[in-house]
Amino acid sequence: MRPTVFYSYIVFLIVLSSCAFKTPDPSVQDKMHIFLDSLINEMTVEEKAGQLTLYTSGWTITGPQLREDYIDELKAGRAGNLFNAHTVDYSMKLQKMAVEETRLGIPLLFGLDVIHGYKTTFPIPLAEASTWDMDIIEKTARLSAKEAASAGVNWTFNPMVDIARDPRWGRIAEGAGEDTYLGSLIGAAKVRGHQGEDLADPTTILACVKHFAAYGAAQAGRDYHTVDMSDRVLRETYLPPYKAALDAGAATLMTSFNELDGVPASGSYYLMTEILRKEWGFDGFVVTDYTSINEMVPHGVVADEKEAVALAFNAGVEMDMQGGIYSKYIPELIREGKISEKVLDAYVKRVLTMKYKLGLFDDPYRYLNAQREQETFFSQELMDHALLSAKESIVLLKNEKVGDSPLLPLSKSTRSIALIGPLADNQKDMLGTWHVAGDETKVITLLQGMKEIAPGVTLHHARGAGFTGDDRPGFREAIQAARKSDVVVMALGENFGQSGEAASRSELGLPGAQQALLEEIQALGKPIVVLVMAGRPLTLEWMHDHVPAIVNTWHLGTQAGRAIAQVLFGDHNPAGKLTITFPRNVGQIPIFYSMKNTGRPFDTQNKYTSRYLDVSNEPLYPFGHGLSYTTFDYADLHLATNELSEGASLPVSVTVTNTGPYEGREIVQLYITDKVGSVTRPVKELKGFKKINLKPGESAKVEFTITTDDLAFYTRDMSYQAEPGTFKVMVGPSSSKGLEAEFELKVNGI
Ligand code: NOJ
Repeated sequence: MRPTVFYSYIVFLIVLSSCAFKTPDPSVQDKMHIFLDSLINEMTVEEKAGQLTLYTSGWTITGPQLREDYIDELKAGRAGNLFNAHTVDYSMKLQKMAVEETRLGIPLLFGLDVIHGYKTTFPIPLAEASTWDMDIIEKTARLSAKEAASAGVNWTFNPMVDIARDPRWGRIAEGAGEDTYLGSLIGAAKVRGHQGEDLADPTTILACVKHFAAYGAAQAGRDYHTVDMSDRVLRETYLPPYKAALDAGAATLMTSFNELDGVPASGSYYLMTEILRKEWGFDGFVVTDYTSINEMVPHGVVADEKEAVALAFNAGVEMDMQGGIYSKYIPELIREGKISEKVLDAYVKRVLTMKYKLGLFDDPYRYLNAQREQETFFSQELMDHALLSAKESIVLLKNEKVGDSPLLPLSKSTRSIALIGPLADNQKDMLGTWHVAGDETKVITLLQGMKEIAPGVTLHHARGAGFTGDDRPGFREAIQAARKSDVVVMALGENFGQSGEAASRSELGLPGAQQALLEEIQALGKPIVVLVMAGRPLTLEWMHDHVPAIVNTWHLGTQAGRAIAQVLFGDHNPAGKLTITFPRNVGQIPIFYSMKNTGRPFDTQNKYTSRYLDVSNEPLYPFGHGLSYTTFDYADLHLATNELSEGASLPVSVTVTNTGPYEGREIVQLYITDKVGSVTRPVKELKGFKKINLKPGESAKVEFTITTDDLAFYTRDMSYQAEPGTFKVMVGPSSSKGLEAEFELKVNGI
């Protein structure tokens, strides 16, 4: 044991024994407090600021690079945490430096953006949200944690629970979509998956809920842009998913880059202290998003970085990611009395508590076992789940008849298929955004998947076009391939860098010359299936009007090609449903299902209603939409009573029957409309769903329970409660259709 570690340990024992007469058998919690308090007692202000400092190791770059001297900082105890360092071999060297070459030997936290997998890459989060399946989502988070933990990572910057309603914003790919209720469930599932039952289990890692708050509401969908909204919208629509993820036990939380009501989030006392600590009682620690403390200078709320540190620190932010200015200015600000050392100690303790809970003080190398790493990467368990998740994420948008039957699924005895497009035989882009450690060489492309599943079909493959510019030299080969084939499958969409951070777009059509390619191929008159592979909703109106079958496959990760091929040839019946509205054009944005009615709701007969002259108000594909190879019939919507009293619950049931030729899964959705409120209410809100499996001809009674909690909202005086009155219930296959019934809520007999 290093002298410094030994020294700390001795201090710990001394303190323990000196307390022994008071608490002869200190509980585990007490032991932790005694240990951490004694350790903090030993620390200089510089070392304390070091524990509140996080630097990128420089291996993977996930933002502007500020410091390259982090090794010197680390050895001096001025850098207590690193991110973008991973793999046992690499991280071991760094952990050894921290443990053996710093005065107190405090182990490092190793953070990484394990967003949708570590090595084995799962579907991008927006895709996986389309499963509406919390078991799948939680297991993805669990297995990703297991794989990352085997490579030295003990902290992930995930889940991103920002509600997003503007597909121009590239980071829409990283979230769960537009809905607060569904987004809250998904955020909580991911936290459970990452953190497991007990952080002391070395296959678990700390979760980090991000980006607090309302980062997804950037004006005009431009990344990092201003956010401005009423407190009502903030609390009703944007905050619940962060709260749900924290209630699920998330250990850490990340601030956002944006301002809110004129104050950058990293300097917002309202967000970081009043809401987070005082209202919600969060006891983990807050880390900034990257250099967002420094960025308060260009935001224009502080004159210099030192003022920025005081603002962030006093707002309630524990850790500075990559900015390097907590370690620079905290000692000075303490001396000047502008920040308090007592608060500093409390912040340091929150960070050290997480290191303690992870077991790093017992064994700093517990995440650094080369054999475990070897056994875990791309294990069968990971690959199987990646395939399941990918298949369930696929959304069938349209499937019309060509001849007597719907074009999909394709028959394995089809003689020849032209497989065209830049994503047809593409490994890298299947990984999608934020595949930090994803290994493209392991990716199954669509071409490989199709060959594997339908070896008897002759495939004519042509790339056709790229993702940028107007390059058309590939068109000829693609047209020839289409001409000699019975069916055309086109794999079109975005490359991995066209969504994600700093990847906002102002046009949402197929990028590059892909639309032109599609139009030329369509003119040949062959049956066409388009597979849309993108990190966001694209505007697909022309495609919808001219192509019989459209499948939204998103970016599905390591098993992408296999999953899509299974859907194409009917080995897997698609069941995904959109968690984000697909607009007809960019001018409709923001468009989401839970909008308000307005005082002049759309009426075709009346010009002076809320509408456009040149496009309908309806989206192309609504929230909740997704078809199957089979069909489902909804009947017998039944409310146990038409009167619900406060605190009681209302059982609701519906019968769903599989009326088509295939076994299939259906996501049955329940929406509620509050017809009259003290403030205007959304036209409808999702309040429940069930995913069921039915064989052909089989029926199931699907049951829900509505409680008064489901009806509560921020009323005119901002109290959160349900108001008496009439409510409409809709149960159906999407947000745009279903069976309807009404009930009354009675409060105090009214
Ligand atoms: C900036 C991103 O906004 C955030 O989501 C990410 O976790 C950090 N960079 C670290 O890579």
